[in-house]
Amino acid sequence: MLKGKKIVIGITGSIAAYKMPLLIRLLVKEEAEIQVIMTPSARDFVTPLTLATLSQRPVLIDGFDSDNGHWNSHVELGRWADVMLIAPASANSLAKMASGIADNFLLTVYLAAKCPVFIAPAMDLDMFHHKTTQSNIETLHSFGNKIIAPKEGELASGLCGAGRLEEPEEILLILKRFFEKKKS
Ligand SMILES: Cc1cc2nc3c(=O)[nH]c(=O)nc-3n(C[C@H](O)[C@H](O)[C@H](O)COP(=O)(O)O)c2cc1C
Repeated sequence: MLKGKKIVIGITGSIAAYKMPLLIRLLVKEEAEIQVIMTPSARDFVTPLTLATLSQRPVLIDGFDSDNGHWNSHVELGRWADVMLIAPASANSLAKMASGIADNFLLTVYLAAKCPVFIAPAMDLDMFHHKTTQSNIETLHSFGNKIIAPKEGELASGLCGAGRLEEPEEILLILKRFFEKKKS
C-alpha cells in the first residue's frame, strides 16, 4: 500500500522525537520513500545520522548552505510529496504553522506543500491543554490538515495525561488507511 509513496516527515523539538526512527524504519520496510526534515531544535532530541541512515537519504535542516550557496527547494519538496507528516509537532511549531510563520526550512515546506498534511502534536499535558495550543490545533484542522490526536498516558515529565505522541505502529496504520481510501 505504501510502496513508492513519497512521504516528507517533519520532526520538531519534542522529546517524543525518539519514536521517529522506529516509524521511519516501519515505513521503509513498506518501501515508502522518506525525506526527513528537522527543525534545528529537533537535533537536540534525535540525531540526523540515525534518521538519515534509516530513511536512506540525507536529512534536511537548513534551507541553504551559507558556505557554498547550495539551497534546497521548499517548493519542489512540497510538490514532490504524496503526503507530509509532521510528528512530533511541538507547541511552538504548531503556533507558527497556524499563523503562517516560516522561519525554518520545515515550516517553509509545510507552507508550500500541495499534498495532504498530517500533524501529530506531542507535548506535556499543560502545554497541550493551554487555550493557545488548542486554538492553534483547531485552526490547523480548519485549514484541512489532518490531526493525529495525542494519547493519554505517562508523559516524559513523569506526569500523566494527554500529550503522548501516537505510537509509530498506529501512525503507520493511519497512513496506510489514508492511501487505501484514496485508491478506492
Ligand atoms: C527536555 C525537553 C523536552 C521538550 N519536549 C517538548 C515536547 O514534547 N513538546 C513541545 O511542544 N515542546 C517541548 N520542548 C520545548 C521545545 O523543544 C521548544 O519549544 C523548541 O523551541 C521547539 O522548537 P521547534 O518547534 O522549532 O522544533 C521540550 C524542551 C525540552 C528541554
